[in-house]
Amino acid sequence: MVMLQEFFEDKSFRLKQLGAGVAITGCGSATPVATLDNQDLSQIVETSDEWIKTRTGIRRRHLASASESLSEISAQAADSAMVMAGITPAEIDLIILATSTPDDLFGSANQIQSLIGASRAVAFDLTAACSGFVFALVTASQFIRTGVYQNVLIIGADLLSRWVDWSDRRTCVLFGDGAGALVCQATEQGDGLLGFELRSDGSRNHCLNLAYQKNSQSLTKDISIGFGTYQPITMDGREVYRFAVDKVPEVIEKALFRAKFTSDQIDWLLLHQANQRIMDAVAKRLKISSDKVISNLANYGNTSAASIPLALDEAVRQGKIEPGDVIAASGFGAGLTWGAAIFQWGR
Ligand code: ACO
Repeated sequence: MVMLQEFFEDKSFRLKQLGAGVAITGCGSATPVATLDNQDLSQIVETSDEWIKTRTGIRRRHLASASESLSEISAQAADSAMVMAGITPAEIDLIILATSTPDDLFGSANQIQSLIGASRAVAFDLTAACSGFVFALVTASQFIRTGVYQNVLIIGADLLSRWVDWSDRRTCVLFGDGAGALVCQATEQGDGLLGFELRSDGSRNHCLNLAYQKNSQSLTKDISIGFGTYQPITMDGREVYRFAVDKVPEVIEKALFRAKFTSDQIDWLLLHQANQRIMDAVAKRLKISSDKVISNLANYGNTSAASIPLALDEAVRQGKIEPGDVIAASGFGAGLTWGAAIFQWGR
């Protein structure tokens, strides 16, 4: 009986009754120190600055050294986000790490929890490739809306340089390493996640993957297991390009519909930073002017799950994105997965 009374008095239950909303209150990002520009790349594979710039918009990318780790750069991004939000690590209830390149296949969110000293937080990884950050934002928001957690840290981080074939010019020119983080908090004043739509299509998994390749290894006369390792990224670039230009506007329109917004009412379009031509084509389809498109791809390349929070953090710190601005964000990539979230910054 006493336990029941405590439950009813618990703040999380009261928030649930009121219908807690999500406020996105802090962001941060971090990248490895070393950069490789297109000119440097042309010493490694047969390519040119001109080809990479015109086909993708990328000029340089940050690459992690052997001594840097995904957990460490994620922790740096998380620290900056918590400072901006004005909360301490001890106040964090949940950490969701969106990544496809953990330091440990069992997950790296717990290492980040330890590095930042978020001793109360439960932490887990979420894998949805370049859509991972949007999927994590939506997942975090469900925990907040149900009143279970009040302060959630979401991190998008990838070190794809470790999983690229550096002799394959079709893929190695595209990717870079980085991490970005957001703090989402419960609020009783409205809900900053205005609408979302998430999608998957496993039938097109072959278009882009980082697959496990196994050999058969006999353990006993009757039992053999598959034993191997992950192979570098393979991608049908044209197919992924077509998929992105076709599906991303559609999913943004659905999320806008749910948010009861039209594309001309949003302040910023923030797409996964894969290719400038994809961003331009999506903006054109949605009739969004180019000055509303956030792009920092030129300096970072495609950082997979990190690209959206990295670009958001840069735009916020430059004073471009201001509190109250409405952002249409969309991630897309391997799986295939894609999704969009319409959210208000800084409420
Ligand atoms: N340098 C010079 N030439 C090149 C290079 C290079 N780095 N790469 C390919 N080429 C050549 C090809 O060999 C081909 O030559 P050919 O005509 O003699 O055969 C020619 O350039 C054209 O190749 P395409 O692949 O048709 O080039 P395209 O214009 O499609 O651009 C690109 C390739 C940039 C990869 C584009 O298709 C693209 O951006 N696709 C989408 C990728 C993407 O968005 N991925 C996101 C998800 S990532 C994730 O989820 C982890």
